[in-house]
Amino acid sequence: MDEMQKITSLCKRRGFVFPSSEIYGGFSAVYDFGPYGVELANNIKKEWWKNMVQLREDIVGLDSAIFMHPKIWEASGHTTGFADPLTECKNCHSRFRVDHLLEAIGVVADEKMTEEQINGIFGQNKSKIKCPDCAKSDFTKVKKFNLLVKANLGNFTDDWAKAPVYLRGETCQGIYVNYLNVLDSTRVKIPFGIAQIGKAFRNEITARQFIFRTREFEQMEMQYLCKPGQEMEEYEKLRQYRWQYYMDLGFKPENLKWHKHENLVFYAKEAYDIEYNYPFGFAELEGVHARGDYDLSQHQKFSGHELSYTDPQTNEKYIPHIIESSVGVGRTFLAAVCEAYAEEEVAGEETRIVLKFPKQLAPIKAAVFPLLRNKPELVEKARKVFNEVKRHFMAEFDDNGNIGKRYRRQDEIGTPYCLTIDFDTLKDNTITIRDRDTMKQERIKISESGGFLKQKLSA
Ligand code: GAP
Repeated sequence: MDEMQKITSLCKRRGFVFPSSEIYGGFSAVYDFGPYGVELANNIKKEWWKNMVQLREDIVGLDSAIFMHPKIWEASGHTTGFADPLTECKNCHSRFRVDHLLEAIGVVADEKMTEEQINGIFGQNKSKIKCPDCAKSDFTKVKKFNLLVKANLGNFTDDWAKAPVYLRGETCQGIYVNYLNVLDSTRVKIPFGIAQIGKAFRNEITARQFIFRTREFEQMEMQYLCKPGQEMEEYEKLRQYRWQYYMDLGFKPENLKWHKHENLVFYAKEAYDIEYNYPFGFAELEGVHARGDYDLSQHQKFSGHELSYTDPQTNEKYIPHIIESSVGVGRTFLAAVCEAYAEEEVAGEETRIVLKFPKQLAPIKAAVFPLLRNKPELVEKARKVFNEVKRHFMAEFDDNGNIGKRYRRQDEIGTPYCLTIDFDTLKDNTITIRDRDTMKQERIKISESGGFLKQKLSA
């Protein structure tokens, strides 16, 4: 099995990620998070929120609705510009993104290109490109395929009843249209940011690479509003801040790199990605973009509502310029699992598979075991310990199988500490605590175990 298969299979086997609607044969590019997956995803979102909102006096949160006025997507340029170039293999009818096919042979396609321009480049290179699925080289003409997902939400009151309503393609539009509400209701002043976590939907052409590219996903986005002329300085600060975030989460620096976009999407002034070294190679984890005044100017134009900011000190009036940090929960999840995944040789035992998550991301923080399940006095004592631990941390009680197997199971879901209650516990109220990473065990008093976990898990 290659690395990606191992990770996909571990995620399924251990309840992190399930294919959506599996009993109906699955639903392409949509996934569900299982019991440990939802814990990991929640911890990822908590960490991001802490870093972007809790620790920042200049950033506040928001949770805007998924459905928005259809005009928003016209103003933002998504109804016309949010499209990927699509081709179909005439032999096996698989569909591909043309920019990805060209990229694979070292030809860069510009996202700003018209259908004709990209058809021209594809035409020149077509003979060198083989279908990744059937290896034939016979493709249809390139068509731009819009990624917005339509909904049929009723709007029975005005003309917009006839216009399609979309599921949002990115969460940040809800931030732009609320920026004046935030300004008027809080004490923020420019420069300041608004952060939001929420679902986004895209009709992605290719559905490969597990949860890397899905049609329904969650974004964690922060939009920072700046005085024109000052945004590039703030942009550099934001880039450093986001890089440091991954370092603080324990990512290896060699598994991350910056990628500067030469071919900018329709709204961007400057764009960098933080790429992660996934098992299929370096690919975009997060985008850090300078969007200029594009978004607010467009919404001002399309809504007819003035969106300029008046400096409270100087009375200067301007449309703020925006820089953003945007990252998917799913991509962070996949990167976190890849980063944590390890196979270790243990003398005289089977290879150990362990997810060495940073403590704050681990789905379960501690597991409590009675040494034997058929000794009521051990089970009762272990239950007492568990009932106390679970009040403070996500914890699991396990009395199934031998202790070695229970350790291995917890290793595979990344639990940092396992607490075992044995016969000595009954005599002296001590337990063993086993460390996931070193596999070392130490004996401590039950009365000290809460403090021990608190100290270790917050370190
Ligand atoms: N507001 C800017 C924006 O949406 P983007 O580069 O299209 O920019 C930002 O998306 C981030 O959202 C990406 O870096 C990625 O982490 C995540 N993302 C985008 N499309 C995704 C998809 N189809 N599946 C999973 N995550 C996705």
